[in-house]
Amino acid sequence: MKPRINARVGSLPGYPLAHIPRRKRELLAAGVDLIDLGAGDADFPPPAEAIEGLKAALGDPAMHKYGFQLGLPAFREAVVRYMRRRFDAEFDAMQDVLPLIGSKEGLAHFALAVAGPGDVVVVPEPGYQCYIGGAIVSGAEPYIYPLTPRTNFLVELGELPKDVLRRTRLVYLNYPNNPTAAVAPREYLERTVAFCREHGIALAYDNPYVEITFDGYRASGIFEVDGAREVALEFHSCSKSFSMTGWRIGWAVGNRALIDALTKIKSYHDTGPFLALQRAAVPVIDRAEELVKPLVASFQRRRDVAVAALREAGFDAPVPRATLYLWVPLPEGMVSAEFARIAMDDAGVIVMPGTGFGPSAEGYFRIALTVSEQRLREAAARLGKVLARA
Ligand SMILES: Cc1ncc(COP(=O)(O)O)c(C=O)c1O
Repeated sequence: MKPRINARVGSLPGYPLAHIPRRKRELLAAGVDLIDLGAGDADFPPPAEAIEGLKAALGDPAMHKYGFQLGLPAFREAVVRYMRRRFDAEFDAMQDVLPLIGSKEGLAHFALAVAGPGDVVVVPEPGYQCYIGGAIVSGAEPYIYPLTPRTNFLVELGELPKDVLRRTRLVYLNYPNNPTAAVAPREYLERTVAFCREHGIALAYDNPYVEITFDGYRASGIFEVDGAREVALEFHSCSKSFSMTGWRIGWAVGNRALIDALTKIKSYHDTGPFLALQRAAVPVIDRAEELVKPLVASFQRRRDVAVAALREAGFDAPVPRATLYLWVPLPEGMVSAEFARIAMDDAGVIVMPGTGFGPSAEGYFRIALTVSEQRLREAAARLGKVLARA
Protein backbone atom coordinates (compact mmCIF):
# COMPACT_ATOMS: atom_id res chain seq x y z
CA MET A 1 0.00 0.00 0.00
CA LYS A 2 1.23 3.50 -0.84
CA PRO A 3 1.70 6.01 1.99
CA ARG A 4 -1.15 8.49 2.11
CA ILE A 5 -0.43 12.18 1.54
CA ASN A 6 -2.15 14.66 3.84
CA ALA A 7 -5.10 16.25 2.02
CA ARG A 8 -3.78 19.66 3.08
CA VAL A 9 -0.81 19.14 0.74
CA GLY A 10 -3.25 18.79 -2.12
CA SER A 11 -4.97 22.02 -1.04
CA LEU A 12 -1.77 24.05 -1.33
CA PRO A 13 -1.75 26.04 -4.57
CA GLY A 14 1.32 25.55 -6.77
CA TYR A 15 4.17 27.77 -5.59
CA PRO A 16 4.46 30.59 -8.17
CA LEU A 17 8.24 30.63 -8.52
CA ALA A 18 8.63 26.85 -8.34
CA HIS A 19 8.86 26.05 -12.06
CA ILE A 20 11.02 29.04 -13.03
CA PRO A 21 14.52 27.81 -12.02
CA ARG A 22 14.21 24.70 -14.23
CA ARG A 23 12.96 26.63 -17.27
CA LYS A 24 15.61 29.29 -16.65
CA ARG A 25 18.35 26.65 -16.71
CA GLU A 26 17.00 25.26 -19.98
CA LEU A 27 16.93 28.69 -21.62
CA LEU A 28 20.42 29.59 -20.38
CA ALA A 29 21.73 26.24 -21.62
CA ALA A 30 20.22 27.07 -25.01
CA GLY A 31 22.26 30.30 -25.02
CA VAL A 32 19.35 32.73 -24.42
CA ASP A 33 20.38 36.17 -23.11
CA LEU A 34 17.95 35.98 -20.20
CA ILE A 35 16.90 38.92 -18.00
CA ASP A 36 15.42 37.62 -14.76
CA LEU A 37 13.00 40.08 -13.15
CA GLY A 38 11.13 37.29 -11.37
CA ALA A 39 12.25 36.77 -7.79
CA GLY A 40 12.74 39.74 -5.45
CA ASP A 41 16.44 39.05 -5.14
CA ALA A 42 18.57 42.05 -6.15
CA ASP A 43 22.07 41.82 -7.62
CA PHE A 44 23.70 43.98 -4.89
CA PRO A 45 26.22 42.43 -2.50
CA PRO A 46 25.49 42.36 1.23
CA PRO A 47 27.15 45.06 3.38
CA ALA A 48 30.87 44.50 4.08
CA GLU A 49 29.98 44.50 7.82
CA ALA A 50 27.91 41.38 7.29
CA ILE A 51 30.59 39.49 5.41
CA GLU A 52 33.45 40.48 7.73
CA GLY A 53 31.22 39.82 10.76
CA LEU A 54 30.38 36.36 9.49
CA LYS A 55 34.02 35.51 8.80
CA ALA A 56 34.94 36.56 12.35
CA ALA A 57 31.99 34.68 13.87
CA LEU A 58 32.96 31.49 12.06
CA GLY A 59 36.24 31.49 14.00
CA ASP A 60 34.39 31.20 17.31
CA PRO A 61 33.51 27.58 18.18
CA ALA A 62 30.57 28.75 20.32
CA MET A 63 28.87 30.08 17.18
CA HIS A 64 28.67 26.55 15.74
CA LYS A 65 26.38 25.22 18.48
CA TYR A 66 22.60 24.94 18.53
CA GLY A 67 21.07 28.38 18.81
CA PHE A 68 17.65 27.17 19.97
CA GLN A 69 14.83 29.73 19.90
CA LEU A 70 16.72 31.94 22.35
CA GLY A 71 19.47 32.46 19.80
CA LEU A 72 22.06 35.12 20.47
CA PRO A 73 21.03 37.68 23.13
CA ALA A 74 23.11 40.29 21.26
CA PHE A 75 20.90 39.77 18.17
CA ARG A 76 17.74 40.27 20.23
CA GLU A 77 19.25 43.41 21.77
CA ALA A 78 20.14 44.83 18.34
CA VAL A 79 16.51 44.29 17.29
CA VAL A 80 15.30 46.15 20.38
CA ARG A 81 17.64 49.06 19.61
CA TYR A 82 16.40 49.17 16.01
CA MET A 83 12.73 49.12 17.02
CA ARG A 84 13.42 51.95 19.48
CA ARG A 85 15.39 54.08 16.99
CA ARG A 86 13.14 53.50 14.06
CA PHE A 87 9.63 53.28 15.54
CA ASP A 88 10.02 54.74 19.03
CA ALA A 89 8.73 51.44 20.42
CA GLU A 90 10.18 49.69 23.48
CA PHE A 91 10.48 45.91 23.66
CA ASP A 92 12.04 43.39 25.99
CA ALA A 93 14.85 41.58 24.19
CA MET A 94 14.23 38.24 25.88
CA GLN A 95 10.43 38.19 25.87
CA ASP A 96 9.15 40.23 22.95
CA VAL A 97 11.57 39.23 20.15
CA LEU A 98 12.13 35.98 18.27
CA PRO A 99 14.96 35.35 15.78
CA LEU A 100 13.69 33.77 12.55
CA ILE A 101 15.30 31.71 9.80
CA GLY A 102 14.16 34.42 7.41
CA SER A 103 10.76 35.98 8.02
CA LYS A 104 8.99 33.51 5.69
CA GLU A 105 9.08 30.58 8.09
CA GLY A 106 7.94 32.81 10.96
CA LEU A 107 4.99 34.09 8.94
CA ALA A 108 3.90 30.59 7.91
CA HIS A 109 4.43 29.09 11.37
CA PHE A 110 2.48 31.91 12.96
CA ALA A 111 -0.76 30.54 11.51
CA LEU A 112 -0.13 27.30 13.42
CA ALA A 113 0.21 29.33 16.60
CA VAL A 114 -3.16 31.10 16.36
CA ALA A 115 -5.47 29.19 13.99
CA GLY A 116 -6.75 25.70 13.35
CA PRO A 117 -9.69 23.78 11.90
CA GLY A 118 -12.90 25.80 11.99
CA ASP A 119 -11.01 29.10 12.08
CA VAL A 120 -10.49 31.62 9.29
CA VAL A 121 -7.25 33.32 8.27
CA VAL A 122 -7.60 36.43 6.09
CA VAL A 123 -5.16 36.21 3.20
CA PRO A 124 -4.63 39.10 0.77
CA GLU A 125 -4.45 38.14 -2.90
CA PRO A 126 -2.13 38.86 -4.61
CA GLY A 127 0.23 38.37 -1.72
CA TYR A 128 3.25 36.57 -0.44
CA GLN A 129 2.42 32.89 -0.81
CA CYS A 130 3.49 31.75 2.64
CA TYR A 131 0.36 33.34 4.11
CA ILE A 132 -2.01 30.98 2.33
CA GLY A 133 0.42 28.12 2.88
CA GLY A 134 0.52 28.72 6.62
CA ALA A 135 -3.25 29.02 6.77
CA ILE A 136 -3.87 25.77 4.88
CA VAL A 137 -1.26 23.78 6.78
CA SER A 138 -2.81 24.95 10.07
CA GLY A 139 -6.13 23.45 8.97
CA ALA A 140 -7.82 26.86 9.01
CA GLU A 141 -9.84 28.15 6.10
CA PRO A 142 -8.11 30.93 4.14
CA TYR A 143 -10.43 33.82 3.32
CA ILE A 144 -9.06 35.41 0.18
CA TYR A 145 -9.34 39.19 0.11
CA PRO A 146 -8.58 40.54 -3.40
CA LEU A 147 -6.24 43.54 -3.46
CA THR A 148 -7.49 45.84 -6.20
CA PRO A 149 -7.47 49.56 -7.02
CA ARG A 150 -11.01 49.74 -5.54
CA THR A 151 -9.51 49.83 -2.03
CA ASN A 152 -6.08 51.18 -3.04
CA PHE A 153 -4.86 47.59 -2.61
CA LEU A 154 -5.72 47.71 1.12
CA VAL A 155 -7.47 44.89 3.01
CA GLU A 156 -10.67 46.38 4.41
CA LEU A 157 -11.59 44.10 7.30
CA GLY A 158 -14.95 45.86 7.72
CA GLU A 159 -16.03 44.13 4.50
CA LEU A 160 -15.69 40.60 5.91
CA PRO A 161 -18.99 38.71 5.90
CA LYS A 162 -20.38 38.26 9.44
CA ASP A 163 -19.90 34.49 9.49
CA VAL A 164 -16.29 34.87 8.33
CA LEU A 165 -15.53 37.62 10.83
CA ARG A 166 -16.88 35.53 13.71
CA ARG A 167 -14.34 32.79 12.88
CA THR A 168 -11.39 35.01 11.91
CA ARG A 169 -8.32 34.45 14.09
CA LEU A 170 -5.57 35.99 11.98
CA VAL A 171 -4.99 38.51 9.23
CA TYR A 172 -1.79 38.95 7.24
CA LEU A 173 -1.00 42.50 6.18
CA ASN A 174 2.02 43.64 4.20
CA TYR A 175 2.64 47.33 3.44
CA PRO A 176 4.75 48.40 1.61
CA ASN A 177 3.25 45.55 -0.37
CA ASN A 178 4.61 42.74 -2.46
CA PRO A 179 3.60 42.55 -5.29
CA THR A 180 1.40 45.63 -5.70
CA ALA A 181 3.91 48.12 -4.16
CA ALA A 182 0.94 49.72 -2.36
CA VAL A 183 1.58 51.60 0.87
CA ALA A 184 -0.69 51.97 3.90
CA PRO A 185 -1.65 55.38 5.29
CA ARG A 186 -1.36 55.72 9.08
CA GLU A 187 -5.12 56.26 9.37
CA TYR A 188 -5.68 52.85 7.72
CA LEU A 189 -3.32 51.14 10.14
CA GLU A 190 -5.04 52.79 13.10
CA ARG A 191 -8.52 51.67 12.15
CA THR A 192 -7.26 48.19 11.25
CA VAL A 193 -5.54 47.75 14.61
CA ALA A 194 -8.71 49.00 16.33
CA PHE A 195 -10.76 46.47 14.35
CA CYS A 196 -8.43 43.60 15.25
CA ARG A 197 -8.57 44.58 18.92
CA GLU A 198 -12.36 44.77 18.86
CA HIS A 199 -12.69 41.32 17.29
CA GLY A 200 -9.73 39.54 18.91
CA ILE A 201 -7.91 39.00 15.59
CA ALA A 202 -4.16 38.44 15.58
CA LEU A 203 -2.42 40.78 13.14
CA ALA A 204 0.69 39.56 11.34
CA TYR A 205 2.28 42.75 10.02
CA ASP A 206 4.79 41.63 7.43
CA ASN A 207 7.22 44.51 7.02
CA PRO A 208 10.32 43.46 5.06
CA TYR A 209 10.14 46.50 2.75
CA VAL A 210 9.82 49.15 5.46
CA GLU A 211 13.25 50.59 4.62
CA ILE A 212 12.83 50.51 0.83
CA THR A 213 10.91 53.73 0.24
CA PHE A 214 11.33 56.53 -2.28
CA ASP A 215 10.87 60.28 -2.79
CA GLY A 216 11.05 61.01 0.95
CA TYR A 217 8.18 58.64 1.81
CA ARG A 218 8.62 56.93 5.19
CA ALA A 219 6.74 53.68 5.82
CA SER A 220 5.16 52.99 9.22
CA GLY A 221 5.82 50.20 11.63
CA ILE A 222 2.70 48.70 13.18
CA PHE A 223 3.92 49.53 16.69
CA GLU A 224 3.75 53.22 15.89
CA VAL A 225 -0.01 52.65 16.18
CA ASP A 226 -1.53 52.80 19.65
CA GLY A 227 -2.79 49.46 20.91
CA ALA A 228 -1.03 47.39 18.23
CA ARG A 229 0.91 45.59 20.94
CA GLU A 230 -2.33 43.94 22.10
CA VAL A 231 -2.83 42.05 18.82
CA ALA A 232 0.19 42.27 16.55
CA LEU A 233 3.47 40.70 15.67
CA GLU A 234 5.65 42.53 13.18
CA PHE A 235 7.92 40.51 10.92
CA HIS A 236 11.24 41.95 9.75
CA SER A 237 13.95 40.65 7.51
CA CYS A 238 17.55 41.37 6.57
CA SER A 239 16.80 39.91 3.13
CA LYS A 240 15.63 42.87 1.09
CA SER A 241 17.06 45.90 2.93
CA PHE A 242 20.59 44.53 2.92
CA SER A 243 20.54 42.14 -0.03
CA MET A 244 20.98 39.15 2.28
CA THR A 245 18.21 36.89 0.95
CA GLY A 246 20.23 33.69 1.14
CA TRP A 247 21.33 34.26 4.71
CA ARG A 248 17.91 33.46 6.10
CA ILE A 249 17.81 35.89 8.97
CA GLY A 250 14.89 37.93 10.27
CA TRP A 251 12.81 38.42 13.38
CA ALA A 252 9.33 38.66 14.85
CA VAL A 253 8.60 41.26 17.51
CA GLY A 254 5.51 42.26 19.43
CA ASN A 255 2.80 40.87 21.66
CA ARG A 256 4.40 38.66 24.28
CA ALA A 257 1.74 35.93 24.31
CA LEU A 258 1.91 35.69 20.51
CA ILE A 259 5.72 35.54 20.62
CA ASP A 260 5.45 32.78 23.24
CA ALA A 261 3.05 30.80 21.06
CA LEU A 262 5.20 31.19 17.95
CA THR A 263 8.31 30.23 19.94
CA LYS A 264 6.60 27.06 21.12
CA ILE A 265 5.51 26.09 17.59
CA LYS A 266 8.96 26.77 16.17
CA SER A 267 10.72 24.83 18.91
CA TYR A 268 9.12 21.70 17.40
CA HIS A 269 10.15 22.59 13.85
CA ASP A 270 13.60 24.14 13.94
CA THR A 271 16.42 25.11 16.25
CA GLY A 272 16.79 28.76 15.26
CA PRO A 273 19.03 30.60 12.83
CA PHE A 274 22.76 29.77 12.71
CA LEU A 275 24.36 31.73 15.58
CA ALA A 276 27.18 33.03 13.37
CA LEU A 277 24.56 34.68 11.13
CA GLN A 278 22.88 36.22 14.14
CA ARG A 279 26.18 37.66 15.33
CA ALA A 280 27.06 38.99 11.86
CA ALA A 281 23.62 40.62 11.58
CA VAL A 282 24.13 42.69 14.75
CA PRO A 283 26.28 45.47 13.21
CA VAL A 284 24.01 45.47 10.15
CA ILE A 285 20.87 46.01 12.23
CA ASP A 286 22.68 48.62 14.31
CA ARG A 287 23.48 50.61 11.15
CA ALA A 288 20.33 49.67 9.22
CA GLU A 289 19.13 53.14 8.27
CA GLU A 290 22.57 54.14 6.99
CA LEU A 291 23.39 50.88 5.21
CA VAL A 292 20.13 50.83 3.32
CA LYS A 293 20.65 54.30 1.81
CA PRO A 294 22.80 53.37 -1.24
CA LEU A 295 20.52 50.43 -1.94
CA VAL A 296 17.41 52.59 -1.85
CA ALA A 297 19.08 55.19 -4.10
CA SER A 298 19.84 52.44 -6.63
CA PHE A 299 16.32 51.02 -6.46
CA GLN A 300 14.87 54.50 -6.96
CA ARG A 301 17.03 55.09 -10.06
CA ARG A 302 16.07 51.65 -11.37
CA ARG A 303 12.41 52.40 -10.69
CA ASP A 304 12.60 55.64 -12.65
CA VAL A 305 14.42 54.01 -15.56
CA ALA A 306 12.08 51.01 -15.65
CA VAL A 307 8.87 53.05 -15.40
CA ALA A 308 10.00 55.41 -18.19
CA ALA A 309 11.10 52.52 -20.43
CA LEU A 310 7.91 50.54 -19.82
CA ARG A 311 5.78 53.59 -20.62
CA GLU A 312 7.73 54.12 -23.80
CA ALA A 313 7.13 50.46 -24.62
CA GLY A 314 3.37 50.92 -24.30
CA PHE A 315 2.66 49.87 -20.70
CA ASP A 316 0.66 51.90 -18.22
CA ALA A 317 3.30 51.56 -15.46
CA PRO A 318 2.58 53.33 -12.17
CA VAL A 319 5.35 54.94 -10.06
CA PRO A 320 5.60 53.09 -6.72
CA ARG A 321 6.62 54.88 -3.52
CA ALA A 322 8.21 51.78 -2.01
CA THR A 323 9.45 48.18 -2.55
CA LEU A 324 11.56 46.78 -5.35
CA TYR A 325 8.54 45.88 -7.46
CA LEU A 326 6.50 47.37 -10.28
CA TRP A 327 2.93 46.07 -10.52
CA VAL A 328 2.03 46.73 -14.10
CA PRO A 329 -1.47 46.45 -15.57
CA LEU A 330 -1.88 44.62 -18.87
CA PRO A 331 -4.32 45.75 -21.56
CA GLU A 332 -7.90 44.58 -21.02
CA GLY A 333 -8.36 40.89 -21.79
CA MET A 334 -4.67 39.95 -21.91
CA VAL A 335 -3.96 36.79 -19.90
CA SER A 336 -1.04 37.40 -17.56
CA ALA A 337 0.24 33.80 -17.54
CA GLU A 338 0.34 33.80 -21.33
CA PHE A 339 2.09 37.16 -21.41
CA ALA A 340 4.71 35.91 -18.91
CA ARG A 341 5.21 32.67 -20.84
CA ILE A 342 5.81 34.46 -24.13
CA ALA A 343 8.03 37.02 -22.37
CA MET A 344 10.21 34.20 -21.03
CA ASP A 345 10.22 31.82 -23.98
CA ASP A 346 10.30 34.28 -26.88
CA ALA A 347 11.77 37.47 -25.38
CA GLY A 348 14.06 36.04 -22.68
CA VAL A 349 12.55 38.16 -19.89
CA ILE A 350 11.29 36.56 -16.69
CA VAL A 351 8.38 38.41 -15.07
CA MET A 352 5.82 37.17 -12.57
CA PRO A 353 2.29 36.88 -13.98
CA GLY A 354 -0.42 38.29 -11.73
CA THR A 355 -2.14 34.93 -11.51
CA GLY A 356 1.07 33.47 -10.08
CA PHE A 357 -0.17 35.23 -6.94
CA GLY A 358 -3.74 33.97 -7.23
CA PRO A 359 -6.65 34.23 -9.67
CA SER A 360 -7.87 37.65 -8.53
CA ALA A 361 -4.55 39.19 -9.62
CA GLU A 362 -5.28 38.57 -13.30
CA GLY A 363 -4.54 41.53 -15.53
CA TYR A 364 -1.17 42.47 -13.98
CA PHE A 365 2.43 41.38 -14.02
CA ARG A 366 5.24 42.05 -11.56
CA ILE A 367 8.73 43.22 -12.33
CA ALA A 368 11.45 43.10 -9.67
CA LEU A 369 14.08 45.84 -9.92
CA THR A 370 16.86 43.33 -9.43
CA VAL A 371 19.12 44.11 -12.40
CA SER A 372 21.00 47.15 -13.72
CA GLU A 373 19.33 50.17 -15.30
CA GLN A 374 20.68 49.17 -18.69
CA ARG A 375 19.23 45.65 -18.39
CA LEU A 376 15.90 47.07 -17.19
CA ARG A 377 15.78 49.28 -20.31
CA GLU A 378 16.52 46.27 -22.48
CA ALA A 379 13.89 44.16 -20.69
CA ALA A 380 11.24 46.87 -21.11
CA ALA A 381 11.97 47.13 -24.84
CA ARG A 382 11.65 43.36 -25.24
CA LEU A 383 8.40 43.30 -23.22
CA GLY A 384 7.09 46.10 -25.46
CA LYS A 385 7.59 43.84 -28.47
CA VAL A 386 5.63 41.04 -26.73
CA LEU A 387 2.86 43.53 -26.04
CA ALA A 388 2.82 44.79 -29.63
CA ARG A 389 2.55 41.24 -30.98
CA ALA A 390 -0.26 40.20 -28.63
C1 LIG B 1 6.07 40.29 1.49
C2 LIG B 1 7.21 39.41 1.87
N1 LIG B 1 7.29 38.96 3.12
C3 LIG B 1 8.28 38.16 3.52
C4 LIG B 1 9.27 37.77 2.64
C5 LIG B 1 10.29 36.79 3.11
O1 LIG B 1 11.52 37.26 3.29
P1 LIG B 1 12.62 36.38 4.02
O2 LIG B 1 12.04 35.04 4.35
O3 LIG B 1 13.73 36.28 3.07
O4 LIG B 1 12.93 37.15 5.29
C6 LIG B 1 9.21 38.20 1.32
C7 LIG B 1 10.21 37.72 0.33
O5 LIG B 1 10.05 37.84 -0.85
C8 LIG B 1 8.16 39.04 0.94
O6 LIG B 1 8.06 39.49 -0.32
